[in-house]
Amino acid sequence: MSLRPFVTSAAIVAGAALMTLFSAGCPSRPAEGLDPSKVPETVRADYDVFAQRCSRCHSLARPLDSGITEDEYWQTYVERMRRMPSSGISQTDATVILRFLHWYSQAKIAEKKAKAGG
Ligand code: HEC
Repeated sequence: MSLRPFVTSAAIVAGAALMTLFSAGCPSRPAEGLDPSKVPETVRADYDVFAQRCSRCHSLARPLDSGITEDEYWQTYVERMRRMPSSGISQTDATVILRFLHWYSQAKIAEKKAKAGG
């Protein structure tokens, strides 16, 4: 008799539980991406998709600090990322992510204007 199948499935369950914990955003984890309290409720679901899909191969700082504020650029980038092997980004995700990036760009532009004293 072997205990192995039991041990393996227990490990999978534990692993899945851990992953759920992390994706739920453990508060003690260092902040990655945006402070969710600064993201309006209407944008939060879109942000969640972005944060999940676009943090797979690099940090969220890569898109967030890129300085890109034009929708056309975002379209090109998101499409390029989406087409990478095993990106896990669907066409539907891309639409949602672009909606978030549009909001983010507008917020960035407004921030820049405010800093310039406008
Ligand atoms: C499959 C892995 C993968 C995923 C998923 C991914 N990226 Fe990337 N990303 C890369 C790689 C590799 C590079 C660097 C090479 C390049 O620029 O093409 C990169 C670079 C970038 C850059 C910087 C490009 C530059 O010229 O400096 C931006 C912006 C970016 N990604 C945005 C995103 C966004 C937005 C998403 C979610 C839609 C995303 N990435 C998801 C792999 C990925």
